[in-house]
Amino acid sequence: MRPAFVFGTRPEIIKLAPVVRAFDELGVESLLIHTGQHYDYEMSRVFLEELGLDDIDHHLEVGSGTQAEQTGRAMMGIERVLMDEKPDVTLVQGDTNTVLAGALASVKLRIPVAHVEAGLRSFDRTMPEEINRVLADHASEILFAPTEEARENLEREGIVENVYVVGNTVVDAVLQNSELAEKKSNVLERLGLKSGKYILVTAHRAENTDRKENLEKLVEILENLPIKAVYPMHPRTRGKLGEFGLMRRVEVIDNLMITKPLGYLDFLRLERNARLIMTDSGGIQEEAIILNVPCLTLRYNTERPETVKAGGNVLVGLELDRVLHYVDKLLTDEGFYSMMATAPNPFGDGKAGERIAKALLNLWENGELKVTTSRFI
Ligand code: UD1
Ligand code: UDP
Repeated sequence: MRPAFVFGTRPEIIKLAPVVRAFDELGVESLLIHTGQHYDYEMSRVFLEELGLDDIDHHLEVGSGTQAEQTGRAMMGIERVLMDEKPDVTLVQGDTNTVLAGALASVKLRIPVAHVEAGLRSFDRTMPEEINRVLADHASEILFAPTEEARENLEREGIVENVYVVGNTVVDAVLQNSELAEKKSNVLERLGLKSGKYILVTAHRAENTDRKENLEKLVEILENLPIKAVYPMHPRTRGKLGEFGLMRRVEVIDNLMITKPLGYLDFLRLERNARLIMTDSGGIQEEAIILNVPCLTLRYNTERPETVKAGGNVLVGLELDRVLHYVDKLLTDEGFYSMMATAPNPFGDGKAGERIAKALLNLWENGELKVTTSRFI
């Protein structure tokens, strides 16, 4: 059997690495296709190196662009590779433009698509990611839902066959790398940070960065944080702060340390040792609850509602008062802090990669890894 992996951004590399590793352990060699949606060293190569994926078979160098430019270029490149290589299945992960491109190019060549992290829904159609999720799920033959809630979302849309609830591969990634991170990373020493004494911030989503009034709200939040904060900044945010003339305001904040995006080992160590995390990232909402660190999500909705239900995550949006209320509560109210920090991890046991690889191998051995010719919804 020969599986093809299509990925292009930081979170896809992190969350697919455990699946590649699981196939390796079963003696199955994978075809690795990198679209190049992310291309800076610290957004891509650092993860390939740290996670043992530096043997990429095809680099497509798609780069940045409008939604259609990026998706279209990726589709053309992926189609060419899949026509040449003829893998048995194409795996995609998550909700980026790379995922949509990989799913569409593959299913139209009648190569079945396996969607890892299927069934997530924010129900917010203004997010490009929501469009990508829905379309990728409907183009997929095999759906690996991380949770029962995600499976129910698929069922509501009529997708019931070949749906496996396997947990989220992010747990595998955290378990496989966090001990190594504590041993190998010197990020706290390098940045002069003390465990439990800082807030870790990340924000990069289009809904928070692409409109000046929203980005200004983020800046105002950063200006008012009561303790030290560290912000490894995504290039999208850096670009938009520059474009809207807001960079100077951020640079002069005393309590705030801005860094380049960090490698996975450094970032995991920063997460684990933070007093709390403020983020609009999907993956970081998941990692926070896995690592027992309270999370305040700088969004008004989430496709990871399990984290909120479990009590480890609060949606604070970009509302300054609400953000500061929860930051203060987490710094001063030990009972509240420990309630959030002990919220149970809803994303499984860290064996999702193994389940995915075994399920696909089993389908292949039974001759069932193929695109169905008709589907009624
Ligand atoms: C993409 C995903 C988002 C995911 C994020 C992970 C889509 C629609 N969005 O958003 O869901 O959370 O990846 O980090 O697919 N840039 C660089 N260097 C890079 C990559 C990007 O400078 O290596 C800059 C460019 O100015 C680019 C901008 O960041 O225009 C945005 O990059 P893009 O890939 O379009 O989307 P992300 O914001 O990274
Ligand atoms: N991450 C990292 N370095 C950073 C910021 C994030 O290694 O400087 C990791 C983080 O641990 C998580 C993933 O990147 O596994 C999340 O990616 P991102 O926030 O870019 O995307 P999203 O999950 O929102 O799609």
